[in-house]
Amino acid sequence: MPGENEVKAMEQLQAQLLDWYDTYGRDLPWRTDTDPYKIWVSEIMLQQTRVETVIPYYLRFLRELPSVDHLARVSDEVLLKLWEGLGYYQRAANMKRAAGQIVAQHAGRLPGEVSELLRLPGIGTYTAGAIASIAFGQPVPAADGNVFRILARLTGRRDSIDDAAVRKELTATLSLWIPSDRPGDFNQALMDLGATVCLPNGTPLCDRCPLQGFCRAHTEDLTEDIPQRSRKKPRKIQKKTVFVITWKGKVALQKRQKRGLLQSLWEFPGVEGWLSERECRNTLDSWGIQAGPIDAMGHTKHLFTHIEWHMEGFRTEVVCVAEPDRWTWVTAEELSSVYPMPAAFRFYSAQV
Ligand code: ADE
Repeated sequence: MPGENEVKAMEQLQAQLLDWYDTYGRDLPWRTDTDPYKIWVSEIMLQQTRVETVIPYYLRFLRELPSVDHLARVSDEVLLKLWEGLGYYQRAANMKRAAGQIVAQHAGRLPGEVSELLRLPGIGTYTAGAIASIAFGQPVPAADGNVFRILARLTGRRDSIDDAAVRKELTATLSLWIPSDRPGDFNQALMDLGATVCLPNGTPLCDRCPLQGFCRAHTEDLTEDIPQRSRKKPRKIQKKTVFVITWKGKVALQKRQKRGLLQSLWEFPGVEGWLSERECRNTLDSWGIQAGPIDAMGHTKHLFTHIEWHMEGFRTEVVCVAEPDRWTWVTAEELSSVYPMPAAFRFYSAQV
C-alpha cells in the first residue's frame, strides 16, 4: 500500500497532467465522442502509424463504414482500398474478422472488458487498454513506446524499455496512477506528452512539461541517457525489378498471395534482383510477352518493419502476348480507384 505522501504526490501528478491535457491536448477527430467503434478504428490505425497520416484515413473509413455491421460485411477489395497506403495491411483483415466476431458474439457492440477485447483479432494489451479506458472509462493502462519512454524518464529507469520484464514493471507502476474518473484522458494525455514534449533522442522540452517536478531523469540530468533501447536487427535488403507493362491502353497487374507481406494487394509484375535491359527482355519473353522498347523508370526504396525493397522499374508496351489472362489489365482510372496497391509501388503507379 502506498503511504499518505505517495498518494498525495500521485494525485498531484494526475491533476497536473490532466490540467495540461485540458489546455494543450491535441484536437483529434477521434476525441469528439467515445463511440467504442470509432475509438477502436482510431486505435488500430494508430498502431505503428503517425497521427497526421491517420486522420484522413480515419475520416474516410468512418464515412464509408460507419458501424461494426458495415465493416463485417464490406468486401476485401473495398476494405483494402480504404487502407491503401496506410501499411500493415493485416490490421484491416483482422478488423474485418473481429467485426464478424463482434456481430456474432456481442450483438454488434464492442465489449468493454480488457479480457474480452483481447480475444478479438488484432487487439493486444495496448489497444485493449486504450479502448477500455477511452471508450468505456475503465481505469486500465495503455502504454505504447512513447508512454514507456515517459515512464522510464519519470522513474529514472536505465534498463531497456524494449525488455518485456521492464515493460511489465513500468505498466504495473502506471496502473497505480490511472485516475478512475478520467482514465481515457489520462492515457491520452501521456500519449500527447510523448508526442509533443517528452520527445525521444535527447531532445525533450522539459521546460514545457507538467511533470517536470516528478521526473527523475530531469532532476538527475539523465534525459539523454533514458530511455535505453535494445539494438534492432538491421532490415534485410531485397532488390526487385518491376515492370509497368501496357497493352491496348491498359496496364498489367497481378494479385499478391493471401499470406505474408502485403497480402492480397495488387502489384506490377516483377522479379527478385536487378536486371539489365537484356535480362528484362528475356524475363518478358519467358512470360510470353514480346515487348517493344524497354525504358527505365528509375530507382526507389520502400522500408517495411524488417525488410527494405530497393526497386528498379521498367516500362514497356506489349507487341504480342501469348497468355493475356495471366494478368489483370486495368485502366489508369481503375488503378487509382479500384485496385488496392501498396505504397511501395507509388513511384511507378504515379507514372502510369
Ligand atoms: N496514439 C495511439 N492512440 C492515440 C490516441 N488516442 N491519441 C493520440 N495518439 C495516439
